Amino acid sequence: QYYPMVDMDTCIACGACALSAPQVFDYNDEGLAYVTIDNNRGTIAVPAPFVSGMLDAYDGCPSASIQIQKSAFNNCQHK
Ligand code: F3S
Repeated sequence: QYYPMVDMDTCIACGACALSAPQVFDYNDEGLAYVTIDNNRGTIAVPAPFVSGMLDAYDGCPSASIQIQKSAFNNCQHK
C-alpha cells in the first residue's frame, strides 16, 4: 500500500504529477500540487488502479516533492 503526500514547500508547481495521475493529484490556486484523496494528509492508501500512475508521478517530479510511505503519515501538511 502506498500513501503519497506532496511537500508543498518544495513543489515548484511544474504540473507534471496530475498529468501522470489525475486521480491522485490536483493543484491549488497557486499551482502547487496536493493529494486529492485525503487532502494531502497522507492518510489514505492510493486505490490499486491508480498506483502505477502515482509511481510515475513520483519518478517524474523534478523537485522530488512527492513523498511515499508504506503506512500512513502522522503529520498534516495540507494547505
Ligand atoms: Fe509539484 Fe512535483 Fe507535481 S514539482 S506540481 S509535485 S510534479
